[in-house]
Amino acid sequence: MTCSNDGRRPEGLQEVRPGESCELGMMFAHAAWLEAASVPAFQRLADELREHGAPERLIQAARRSAADEVRHTSTMKKLARRHGATMPDVDIAPFQPRDLEGMCLENATEGCVREAYGALVAGWQARTANDEEVRQAMTSIARDELRHAELAWAVDAWAAKRLPPEAREHLREARRETLRGLRSDVERHAPPPLLVRDAGVPSRVDALRLVNGMTELLA
Ligand SMILES: [Fe+2]
Ligand SMILES: [Fe+2]
Repeated sequence: MTCSNDGRRPEGLQEVRPGESCELGMMFAHAAWLEAASVPAFQRLADELREHGAPERLIQAARRSAADEVRHTSTMKKLARRHGATMPDVDIAPFQPRDLEGMCLENATEGCVREAYGALVAGWQARTANDEEVRQAMTSIARDELRHAELAWAVDAWAAKRLPPEAREHLREARRETLRGLRSDVERHAPPPLLVRDAGVPSRVDALRLVNGMTELLA
């Protein structure tokens, strides 16, 4: 689902089926669920960065991001409740140890691409939603998500110096593949007009422009 702002999905996250409620309620409940799932993703990133001897500023930024996601979860839960929806439970398979490249692969797809796109969508919602509460919520979320995307690229730059050329090529290919997947989701998915109007979700055409702009930037 790309009509709510995309977040950092941790490895092992079990997908959920949307609950019974109106379109707006379902969208905010799904967004809350994804925000909640991003909390352990950042906690794990912080722990792994420490294990790999990363600079303290990156570790602290990952911890701060986890705290941001806790705040985003309660903001989205509140909007979901207003529309009669409840956040589904977050179910994640236990994390298994992985090497630096494994950590970087998740960071490349979920951070460098998905959180960057999430920041663009959140910014769009902040500017275009008819609902004032949504505009306010997304203004502050967009700022945080932009910082999360910047952190992903900072982690990528730090790790690149420690990885062999083949691993760096894997990361580049993973980013390209995630962008292609994002574009095909956006192409296949026209968000309902109510979500475009009230929640400021980009229409299919606008979402394609955002993805195209991001593709050019990352090329
Ligand atoms: Fe978030
Ligand atoms: Fe985030």
